[in-house]
Amino acid sequence: MSRALSRSEPVAVIGAGAMGAGIAQIAAAAGHPVRLFDMNVQAAQKAVSGIRSTFVKLADKGRMTAADADAAGYRLSGVDDIAQLAGSALAIEAIVEDLEAKRRLFSDLEAIVADECILATNTSSISVTAIGAALRRPQRLLGMHFFNPAPLMALVEVVSGLATEREMAQVVYATALAWGKSPVHARSTPGFIVNRVARPFYAEALRLMNEGAADPATIDAVMRDSGGFRMGPFELMDLIGHDVNYAVTRSVFESYSNDPRFTPSLIQQELVNAGFLGRKSGRGFYPYGEGATVPAPQTENAVPLPANVVLWRGTATADGLAERLRASSMSFELRDTPHSDGRLLDADGAAVYLTDGRSATQRASETGQHATVLLDLVLDISKAGRVALTVADQAGATDFEPAAAVFQAAGLAVSRLQDVPGMAVMRTVAMLANEAADAVNQGVCDAAAADLAMLKGVNYPCGPLAWADAIGLPHVLGVLDSLAAVYGEDRYRASPLIRRKVWAKGRFHG
Ligand code: NAI
Repeated sequence: MSRALSRSEPVAVIGAGAMGAGIAQIAAAAGHPVRLFDMNVQAAQKAVSGIRSTFVKLADKGRMTAADADAAGYRLSGVDDIAQLAGSALAIEAIVEDLEAKRRLFSDLEAIVADECILATNTSSISVTAIGAALRRPQRLLGMHFFNPAPLMALVEVVSGLATEREMAQVVYATALAWGKSPVHARSTPGFIVNRVARPFYAEALRLMNEGAADPATIDAVMRDSGGFRMGPFELMDLIGHDVNYAVTRSVFESYSNDPRFTPSLIQQELVNAGFLGRKSGRGFYPYGEGATVPAPQTENAVPLPANVVLWRGTATADGLAERLRASSMSFELRDTPHSDGRLLDADGAAVYLTDGRSATQRASETGQHATVLLDLVLDISKAGRVALTVADQAGATDFEPAAAVFQAAGLAVSRLQDVPGMAVMRTVAMLANEAADAVNQGVCDAAAADLAMLKGVNYPCGPLAWADAIGLPHVLGVLDSLAAVYGEDRYRASPLIRRKVWAKGRFHG
């Protein structure tokens, strides 16, 4: 294990905007003397006084002692000449996102700092290899990618370019760990881990909306209350800003030679064209500002309890549902063995299955079971507040209600989606896992790093690969293959690594 920088070693931060100020705060709180430089002298001074008052506030809230807050503030200084960064052991750059500007800065730094000083860039979209190319000693340059707001977000992607020396990445990894962060190693490739693996979270939601599966409020509610995500994709895009989110998607798409996996959405492009950028402009998918009302998700009205309900145990979802139904007034029969066709339950003649990537209509046509109702993926049925259901076109007019009633009896709100393949949560999670698997397959990171990155960088409720393990990799592969077959698009091609694991009856973890 490589050593972390010792606390007495000075850290330089260049660029005193939102990210640089956050990084300077972290390094000073961790005990390092920190020098903050910005080409705009006032920006550096403003950031230093802002960080000092943050330390005072943290002390007031009891999160650090008054003495520590004082000392951390004292360790931090703004400098107005880059030459004052000589003597730094680590220099972290958080200036404008521009390759030439970053190259110039690092060349200037190289002329000032000692050969042992590690040079780190906080870039989120530029190749670390490209930034280092002009350096005399590119082996000491790497990415140290923090997430916004840096003091609160635990993830740090430690990104190695082609020339980066392994030892440098290990020292930065150990240092980030010593700063209380959750670092992961990544190879410099477009989007690194998080900005690549997260693309389907937005992209699949936009496709679902485009195909009329449901409105944004309903998809958001399903992703939150059934999928366990902290925020739904539409509200999150509104928060990030459509200009920023669209630019990241475009950048990843173009960097991967227009791989259809990352095709940007026309819906989002139009929002950008219209200037409906989300919260910051007062309008995105939702209206904001004075008097704006939050649209409610589509929720089925309460329907009468069905007379004949059979629950087939054997899956976490069926078992968890049975547990919830124990407290209800609905009578049902509990079968201890799984049904031969994998259904979860029967409700007055309708059969309910967990979606396998086929639409209910496709499934009904293939099985002859016309009264087919599909359930979307639920992260944890014991905690869920809502489920999403869909019904086959061939079903009778009264086939949906008994299925919905069973979930209502278990205390769950029910949203009805149009019959799109893979539904919302299952399709999104399968695509997130697929992207994470491809990142692992292409040597960008290992499976543990991919999952940790998504847990700590974007607060997902579960790492996508661990989630895929829990669903069952054959099921996830089936979802992807069904999507690929129905859409005929390369976008849904399954990662060779998932296929390989299925053949070997393997898993990503354990
Ligand atoms: P910002 O625009 O808030 O701050 C940039 C600061 O750098 C400004 O104060 C500017 O005066 C200064 N600056 C620009 N060129 C300079 C130069 N040549 N020398 C010295 N100072 C210079 O930008 P922000 O949001 O803090 O981002 C900084 C970097 O961090 C960018 O590379 C960005 O891609 C990356 N990043 C941003 C995240 C975000 O959510 N904002 C998240 C992760 C990374």
